[in-house]
Amino acid sequence: MTDPTVVTASWSDAIGYEAYIGRWSRQVARQFVADLDVPAGRRWLDVGCGTGALTRTVLDLAEPAGVQAVDRSPTFLRHAAAHVPDPRVTFRTADAAALPVDDGSVDVVVSGLVLHFLADPGAAVTAWRRAAVPGGTVAAYVWDYAEGMQMMRAFWLAAARVDPAVATLDEAARFPICAPGPLRAVFTGAGLTDVVTGAIEVPTVFADLDDLWTPFLGGTGHAPVYVATLTDDVRAAIKEELRRSLPVQDDGSIALTARAWTVRGQVP
Ligand SMILES: C[S@@+](CC[C@H](N)C(=O)[O-])C[C@H]1O[C@@H](n2cnc3c(N)ncnc32)[C@H](O)[C@@H]1O
Repeated sequence: MTDPTVVTASWSDAIGYEAYIGRWSRQVARQFVADLDVPAGRRWLDVGCGTGALTRTVLDLAEPAGVQAVDRSPTFLRHAAAHVPDPRVTFRTADAAALPVDDGSVDVVVSGLVLHFLADPGAAVTAWRRAAVPGGTVAAYVWDYAEGMQMMRAFWLAAARVDPAVATLDEAARFPICAPGPLRAVFTGAGLTDVVTGAIEVPTVFADLDDLWTPFLGGTGHAPVYVATLTDDVRAAIKEELRRSLPVQDDGSIALTARAWTVRGQVP
């Protein structure tokens, strides 16, 4: 039913992204930045800043001297620039592995929900290490697609019951890097030291099934791009499967959680 080779993420609809993932990434970002515990006055670089979830959080919580934020999507960057109006931040178009910054010019490099989308994560993290000063920090987080990101897990399980061919599209299968061991290996292989992995779990409470389901119709992200390829009947069957399998409360709400894996290392 589905050709896995034609389903790749689209990062072009900032409003759709915010409803689908941005609202949850922002919650993870708060804990992530707090855990990094970086002193005030540092220079930050946010790689794959998207609509600005992590950038905004750094500005709110870390009292940075400045934040350089880069992403490949001009649409997301426009949204971020409009919604994060702060003189300490600059937004620029750039690839995660070809950064427009001098070597050793920032104190902290962070990246939220990006590493697994990159063609060569090791080369990218090496570029992140080079961008930071000796003693600086490089840190990232990605979803635990295999288990703890319950919204996506529920979606792919429901989709597989309706469309068995979907197994190869499931992000748990596509992104094996999203686990502590592989993350540690990439950071260590990029020349970082004192590499530590961890987990951040946030509540993802949906007002009702539509609050969870409607963002899957937005076309932004791997699962929504897959949903856009389906007929109305298949879409409706997956939604029904979700209704059947999710813990819907008496008031219609659905209380799930989302776990992100974190990784950080020091620049020697
Ligand atoms: C899931 S979004 C994460 C956005 C944001 N960091 C957040 O936590 O909400 C993934 C982002 O990675 C960006 N991206 C994907 N591949 C990239 C690359 N090679 N270089 C730069 N950005 C990239 C996309 O444009 C998108 O904004």
